[in-house]
Amino acid sequence: MFSLAACSDGGDDGGDDDVGGETSAEDEDTDESTDTEGEESTTEEESTTEEDTGGEPSLDDQLRELLAAEGVEPVPLPAPPDEAKFELGRLLFFDKELSGPRNISCATCHHPLLGSADAQGQSKGQGAVGLGPLRVHSGPSLFLPRSALSLWNRGVEGWDTMFWDGRLGQAEDDSFFSPAGDATPQDFDNALAAFTIIPITPDREMRGFSDQLDVFDQPNEMAGLTDADFEDIWGAVVARVMAIDAYADMIDEAFPEVAPEDVDITVLSNAIGAFEGEAFLALDAPFDRYLAGDDDALPTAAKRGALLFYGEANCSGCHSGSLQSDFDFHNIAVPQVGTGNDTGPMTGDEPEAPLDLGRARVTGEDADRFQFRTPSLRNVLLESPYGHNGAYATVEGMIAHHLDPEGSLASYDDSQLDPELVGSRAEVLAEVPDIDAQLLDSLDPLLIPAALSDAELSDLVAFLSALVDQDTLNQLDLVPASVPSGLPVND
Ligand code: HEC
Ligand code: HEC
Repeated sequence: MFSLAACSDGGDDGGDDDVGGETSAEDEDTDESTDTEGEESTTEEESTTEEDTGGEPSLDDQLRELLAAEGVEPVPLPAPPDEAKFELGRLLFFDKELSGPRNISCATCHHPLLGSADAQGQSKGQGAVGLGPLRVHSGPSLFLPRSALSLWNRGVEGWDTMFWDGRLGQAEDDSFFSPAGDATPQDFDNALAAFTIIPITPDREMRGFSDQLDVFDQPNEMAGLTDADFEDIWGAVVARVMAIDAYADMIDEAFPEVAPEDVDITVLSNAIGAFEGEAFLALDAPFDRYLAGDDDALPTAAKRGALLFYGEANCSGCHSGSLQSDFDFHNIAVPQVGTGNDTGPMTGDEPEAPLDLGRARVTGEDADRFQFRTPSLRNVLLESPYGHNGAYATVEGMIAHHLDPEGSLASYDDSQLDPELVGSRAEVLAEVPDIDAQLLDSLDPLLIPAALSDAELSDLVAFLSALVDQDTLNQLDLVPASVPSGLPVND
């Protein structure tokens, strides 16, 4: 029977390790009764489901009703980028020429083999060598304050708020804002493209330190600048790129309307954004196929998990919609561990480290302390560790924290952090003894402590696993064999 075949197909490609034996037994029941219904193919699906569940609405009926009520719909795919822009952006993304000492590229922290991030709780920029989990400090321990965000689906329409604290983005009047303030250029294709102007500026991230030579032991012309010299840094990066003939030619081909002398950081940023938006599109997950109408795309455990997620467990109070984010900011009391934010306050004069005040460092409002942007949960299982500072090594630990923040803080074990950051929990507590009380006092009311059974927890994880786009598991083809600067790409 054709519906039987469809069922077992769904089981095969949607089925993953999280789906227990129970599920296949249920699936078989459905298959058998479908089979005995014989020829009456037009109505058999409906009557079968009703029969199976003894008059109750079927799991699919319940879930589809809930998803409709929650406004969860298929995500429209962005238009594919111009090929010349994509290819230019790809090479720039992997090219260390963009960093002062020519030793770090965007891919160092957003690698296709590492879920478009770096598998680190807090990223390591200058002063470290290696890729991903193998990246270690070769000098003093200097971390970026937060965990590298993944780049999945950042190019879709409406993703206007960037960074864990939303300090860059596109406002409702379509203008772009960023830590560069009034210097922020305005001709970006979207917020994702605009983002590129920032990582190249901090000394510890890509620009390099004042006493640091480049990998050829030559002076780094950006070393004498400060992190706030945005326009000079952008100009220096553009000059480097335009000095390489292959890039100048590619830019001419991708942006024929821009004269060589007018090429600026916006041009490079729009190319990199075009690459990221297409390369890290992850919208062919089982959940997307389910949203498109295929009941068989989701394993039963994932359907139960989705019912909890968008229903009783109220995950969608914040992780709302098809991308599981309201793009708003919430304090869920993730333990303050690691280095904290030692990059200097954006507003006010109060030093933050060993704390990270999150959204409050952008708005200057005490009420926004410890708030972070709700992460999208697309491909989230490829992104461990979890939380803005990588506080939780496993997704189960992260979810358990949501369900009982107080208990989770009390029993928090920092041995799950980067070896260099183990012990930081005690240091934070020594310096700010009431930090947990501060976190819990301003806990977001949408976070409703809930007791979920182990089976329910595993259903939630099954749902998260149905948010993984299998095609993104192997993205080696994104890595270029070489880049125009000739600098190495594989380390
Ligand atoms: C040394 C590591 C490192 C390098 C190099 C790096 N990033 Fe990041 N990236 C991060 C970290 C950490 C964050 C999150 C920072 C925060 O929110 O405060 C981030 C955030 C982002 C985001 C925001 C995603 C979102 O959901 O808001 C984008 C886009 C991004 N990086 C693109 C780039 C590009 C493009 C480059 C190269 C020009 C680059 N990054 C270089 C570590 C890095
Ligand atoms: C009150 C809003 C809110 C609710 C409700 C909520 N979350 Fe979250 N969630 C967040 C925020 C904010 C973060 C990031 C917090 C941080 O890093 O400080 C987060 C982080 C996560 C992460 C880690 C993502 C990453 O990239 O590191 C997972 C997984 C997650 N939530 C799952 C869930 C599940 C499952 C539920 C329901 C049981 C849920 N959340 C309910 C706001 C919420």
